[in-house]
Amino acid sequence: MILQETYPLNNGVKIPKVGFGTWMIDDENVVQAVKDALALGYRHIDTAQAYENERGVGEAIRTAGIDRSELFVTTKVAAEHKTYEAAAQSIDESLEKLGLDTIDLMIIHAPQPWAEFREANYDAGNVEAWRALEDAYQAGKIRAIGLSNFNQHDVENILAHATIKPAVNQVLAHISNTPFDLIDYCQQQNLLIEAYSPVGHGELLKNAELKKMAEKYHVSVPQLAIRYCLALGLLPLPKSANKAHIKANSELDFELTAEDLEQLKKFKPIADYGDSSQFPVYNKK
Ligand SMILES: NC(=O)c1ccc[n+]([C@@H]2O[C@H](COP(=O)([O-])OP(=O)(O)OC[C@H]3O[C@@H](n4cnc5c(N)ncnc54)[C@H](OP(=O)(O)O)[C@@H]3O)[C@@H](O)[C@H]2O)c1
Repeated sequence: MILQETYPLNNGVKIPKVGFGTWMIDDENVVQAVKDALALGYRHIDTAQAYENERGVGEAIRTAGIDRSELFVTTKVAAEHKTYEAAAQSIDESLEKLGLDTIDLMIIHAPQPWAEFREANYDAGNVEAWRALEDAYQAGKIRAIGLSNFNQHDVENILAHATIKPAVNQVLAHISNTPFDLIDYCQQQNLLIEAYSPVGHGELLKNAELKKMAEKYHVSVPQLAIRYCLALGLLPLPKSANKAHIKANSELDFELTAEDLEQLKKFKPIADYGDSSQFPVYNKK
């Protein structure tokens, strides 16, 4: 079962190959969603300070009746924290909200505050936030540290100043929108790429060509899309608040043919992300 498989991070920590995304599940409803996911065998949960549901994620983790050492919890330093003090304080707040002694992976949510995403230079601020993560790592508060939404320049900036190398870069990656150059660069640097919005934030479900290919494997489009990420060596983070979907997204007992994988790699881009285009991560910045 894929949910029991792990990737090794560059510091030796093992990370479950499929994570459960929790963006847009509120603090109350996330408790049941995470409990459902854990009962179905998921062992890796992805949250963030910005999702305002760390308390609920922590409650589900603490009350699931599963040994903490079997669970992997990721959270993110908010994109707006670009000083050492702000980032360090937020790490302690995350630990408190989650109600946990350690966070398995903590990453910088984005290289710029969202209001200035891809527009301003926060190289110095990112090094400051990184230093706060390094200190929390050294203090045993976090087991692995990493990045999110960092382009090659942003990663190079961290590598030039880091004493601890980032373990991951969590980026937008799904069929039709896969940043192959960034993936190659990060993989060469021994950073694992986590694929967020692996189902295109739901947009891939609308595509007839993908539906046809999925039928060939007797799977759904989300299953095809999640398998695509794994075939590229990425770690997909599907989100669902629906128990049947959560279950289906973990049933990945099929392999794509090399031909289909090539076709999916060249898939034409999604024109836009509908109502979700308001979010900086989807409006092609
Ligand atoms: N680092 C970042 O900046 C960043 C940005 C975006 C996302 N993320 C992370 O990545 C996670 C996933 O991304 P995402 O939430 O944007 O989108 P996603 O996982 O690509 O897609 C989620 C959407 O697809 C639907 N869906 C999922 N599985 C389905 C299935 N089997 N059948 C039918 N519909 C299905 C969900 O609806 P239902 O809930 O109704 O099933 C939801 O509308 C997030 O939750 C978050 O943890 C990180």
